[in-house]
Amino acid sequence: MFNSLIAMPADPILGLLTQYREDTHPQKVDLGVGVYKDPAGNTPILNCVKKAEKFRLETETTKVYIGPTGSPQFNTLMTELAFGSDHSAIIANRIRTVSTPGGTGALRVAGDFIKRCNPNAVLWVSDPTWANHTGLFEAAGITVKTYPYYDYDSKSLKFDEMLAALSQVSPDDVVLLHACCHNPSGMDLTTDQWDKVVTLTKEQGFTPLIDMAYQGFGDGVDIDAYGVRKMAAAVDNMILCSSCSKNFGLYRERIGSCSVVAKDANTANIAQSVLLYVVRCLYSMPPAHGAAIVETILGSKELTQEWLDELKVMRDRINGNRAILVEKLKANGVARDFSFIARQKGMFSFLGVNPEQVARLQKEFSIYMVGSSRISIAGISEDNVDYLAQSIAKVL
Ligand code: LMR
Repeated sequence: MFNSLIAMPADPILGLLTQYREDTHPQKVDLGVGVYKDPAGNTPILNCVKKAEKFRLETETTKVYIGPTGSPQFNTLMTELAFGSDHSAIIANRIRTVSTPGGTGALRVAGDFIKRCNPNAVLWVSDPTWANHTGLFEAAGITVKTYPYYDYDSKSLKFDEMLAALSQVSPDDVVLLHACCHNPSGMDLTTDQWDKVVTLTKEQGFTPLIDMAYQGFGDGVDIDAYGVRKMAAAVDNMILCSSCSKNFGLYRERIGSCSVVAKDANTANIAQSVLLYVVRCLYSMPPAHGAAIVETILGSKELTQEWLDELKVMRDRINGNRAILVEKLKANGVARDFSFIARQKGMFSFLGVNPEQVARLQKEFSIYMVGSSRISIAGISEDNVDYLAQSIAKVL
């Protein structure tokens, strides 16, 4: 049976992890997978996480099954973090949330849920989008199509084209939007543009699916959720997928959440029953450890403040790296304008070099980035930025 298998290529993002680890170049630079790194190049465990883990270790009393919904306390706190605790949809009891294995798990749950709402629904994703979106939703049996989003030449949004495309989307379809820190382009909608997208979504009647993998990495936890909150207040149906991988640094704990916003409490209950069915068929129930850490942090005023402070350090470092890279490229005689990098948000930007130049950067300089020239800004440090800028200057 296995003889008919055809080998799959390594994942375009995760494959870089192994290549980078095996590289022995003393100046190698990892701008591949989207993980936060401190100035020494480490991905630290947050202090608030360490404290929460210690507390859980001392107080946890059972490892019994948690059930498909995951931790109710975590679900409530994640809902409040995303929507804001006084959101009209929370007050109207229109939201149901389940804990999921990371943001990817949340997206797959959403995919199977959409398939049950409408087996023929088309999912519209931005061009470009996170490399795994398409494969993940196609694996759930959903047809994926794209709408215009990023203009590689002008390094800006194709906003008018995006709106024109979305105004053709059927009410039976779903449109995936990135809440903030667009992966891979770093180009986010402004609040004004969000307002227009929300109005169009309401008029057109399609279902928005918002992917929020980087809450707090753009401008702050509340500002980054602007579109989520505005959308949920305006429409009858919406899905939100959140991740705790980046903002809590819980990458390998695999914890996130999937929320469904329905038109009323009764419809929300029905939607929840479908979510639980989907979860049971996919993986039965989510892991509990990451959820326990997050609920301990968000359930404590003191730990929440510590988390917000640590999150700000990560955000500020990434923004600082953006500015430093632009400056160093200039200082190394690069005539091309890279100032767009400093204007974009979150973990990623496209460097805008061609695939041959990406390959040369990897082969000759041991600088790793995704083939599309997406760079993970967190991988830049004071120690490597000169080498990075000089190497880019050489391949340009
Ligand atoms: C990324 O885009 O690099 C991250 O979201 C990690 C991943 O799973 O792809």
